[in-house]
Amino acid sequence: MSSKVTKAKKATREKKKALTLAEEATPYNYEALAPDKMNPAKPRFIDLFCGIGGFRIAFEKVGGKCVFSSDYDKFSQQTYEANFGDTPHGDIHGVAVADIPAHDILCGGFPCQPFSIAGVSKKISLGRGHGFDDVKQGNLFFSIADILDFHRPAAFVLENVKNLKGHDKGKTFKIIHNTLTQHLGYTVYHKVIDAQSVVPQHRERIFLVGFREWRHFEFPKFPEEGPKLVSILEANPDPKYTLTDHLWSYLQNYAAKHKAAGNGFGFGLVTGTSTTRTLSARYHKDGSEILIAQRGKNPRRLTPRECARLMGYPDSYKIEVSDTQAYRQFGNSVVVPVVERIAYAVSKALKRPTSEAEDLVLCDKKSKEGDEAMNAQKPTNYPAKKRARRKK
Ligand SMILES: C[S@@+](CC[C@H](N)C(=O)[O-])C[C@H]1O[C@@H](n2cnc3c(N)ncnc32)[C@H](O)[C@@H]1O
Repeated sequence: MSSKVTKAKKATREKKKALTLAEEATPYNYEALAPDKMNPAKPRFIDLFCGIGGFRIAFEKVGGKCVFSSDYDKFSQQTYEANFGDTPHGDIHGVAVADIPAHDILCGGFPCQPFSIAGVSKKISLGRGHGFDDVKQGNLFFSIADILDFHRPAAFVLENVKNLKGHDKGKTFKIIHNTLTQHLGYTVYHKVIDAQSVVPQHRERIFLVGFREWRHFEFPKFPEEGPKLVSILEANPDPKYTLTDHLWSYLQNYAAKHKAAGNGFGFGLVTGTSTTRTLSARYHKDGSEILIAQRGKNPRRLTPRECARLMGYPDSYKIEVSDTQAYRQFGNSVVVPVVERIAYAVSKALKRPTSEAEDLVLCDKKSKEGDEAMNAQKPTNYPAKKRARRKK
């Protein structure tokens, strides 16, 4: 047997031994594994485009410590302050990347309007750009890329509307994915998750989870059967949430007109055994997407507390803004129990030794196609000009 072959066999044996040892060792020596002294049991995270803190509740549940948050909406800041005790920083464009504290996990549900189907049609009808062409909002992804580039956190979790994947015939997602993988060097996993297995609401959102080092990661499994609407309804909702005769007949006429023209679903009337449509930020307008049938009365809309529950927020969550703002805030938010499960899976992945992870992922990769194969795409043009902000 040649010495080359013997050496290779010896190396494989050593590697196997190392892996077995790693698996048997006391759960993970964080200091030894993480050159940046990350403690995966208490990861520091930042909450970008934080809204009312859906990510924060989830990541705090897995032991995380929030070290920075940003949202420029003053009413969201008010709700965030009431619940977490700190006011988020404002417009992310006004924050120098270097002023953001070091962190282990970057979280961000970046504004989805430029990518959502409703947002896109509205912008087209107004003759405005959408996606990355939306100068104000579409380029916010690159603020995230900038922060990742500068701080190199161990992981990130991004959330957006399902349509992000199909927007502009898939080009938008390709740019985002390439920037994260090819330019920034993260291993990225993505999945569309429907929240209806944890809350009584059909809400599909795409999640992108990335790791600086190779890590084996699996999106959490969700129950097949979710809860029904009755589980979140208040016993005695204020009569002000019942539709007036005027609004109810307007909605019925509107729906009938659209049905006759062969388009649209009109309003979404539900009962206690239903799963609702997606709660949107415009629910405050007429509440038409989720109307609760009432015996002998016009239907009613959800109360803000019911919206909070529909998004998986605990009843201890304080709502101190007007109904209009509350509807907008919950309609924009993440479903907390979905993010909670992802946060748990991310923290579990971060606790694994990277050597073990690499081995598993390499095996896994061979059998993967489609979505996973996207990791093999060519680098994209990550706008270097953005780095200038670091020097501020
Ligand atoms: C889809 S919502 C995210 C909601 C959040 N994940 C939650 O759980 O409530 C996007 C948020 O980004 C904020 N936003 C938009 N542009 C911003 C900017 N330039 N700087 C900071 N925040 C911004 C909006 O105010 C909005 O609250």
